[in-house]
Amino acid sequence: MTTSDAPTRAGAAATQEAEAWRPLVVGLGGTTRANSSSERAVRAVLAEARAAGAETEMFAADQIEFPMYAPERPARVPHATAFVEAVRRCDGLVVASPGYHGSLSGLVKNALDYVEDLRDDERPYLHGRAVGCVACAYGWQATTTTLVALRAVVHALRGWPTPFGIAMNSAEPVFADDGSIASEAVAGQVRLLGQQVVEFANAFHATR
Ligand SMILES: Cc1cc2nc3c(=O)[nH]c(=O)nc-3n(C[C@H](O)[C@H](O)[C@H](O)COP(=O)(O)O)c2cc1C
Repeated sequence: MTTSDAPTRAGAAATQEAEAWRPLVVGLGGTTRANSSSERAVRAVLAEARAAGAETEMFAADQIEFPMYAPERPARVPHATAFVEAVRRCDGLVVASPGYHGSLSGLVKNALDYVEDLRDDERPYLHGRAVGCVACAYGWQATTTTLVALRAVVHALRGWPTPFGIAMNSAEPVFADDGSIASEAVAGQVRLLGQQVVEFANAFHATR
């Protein structure tokens, strides 16, 4: 290699590395019941994030049944540690909650409380991560109040709620029996949310 080649090769290597980089998007949501509509919603958004170039990891149902978060008790169950470690590594999240009495469920909120364990990180809490939010409820009213509450939690955790969020009314036919999305309108919303999380992750990564 000549001296004059060196910068070119270094530049090419940097370009290759940038092209190889793929954001990690973590999904959180659902209820204690496997395949709940909120779990299906997260899985659908993660599929769109993968189509947009991301790698994904999913935490749902019994994987997020953690003990009540207690900052004074440092012991963590293994699946809570796995979740916190995934959030530590991730570049974006997709969070879906059922609307329970007009707000997010205790299960999802408790899992989000565990993000407190990242407070002393170089990237504390959800710093620098886009978060796509989905609220599922049996009627429009709780979809909107839950979506607003979810976004407020993401803001408190220093995350960036995506401009688009999904209010999903489970009283309408959203999913087919095989779990696929039956509504063309909802399918478009899911695609947009997955894309926005990945676009933000790529843009934020480019600034680092
Ligand atoms: C404890 C509890 C509280 C609920 N509260 C509301 C509510 O306030 N408004 C509403 O529209 N639906 C409410 N629901 C219905 C869920 O939001 C609805 O079934 C949602 O689609 C959750 O679906 P999933 O369990 O399939 O994720 C409630 C359900 C439960 C179990």
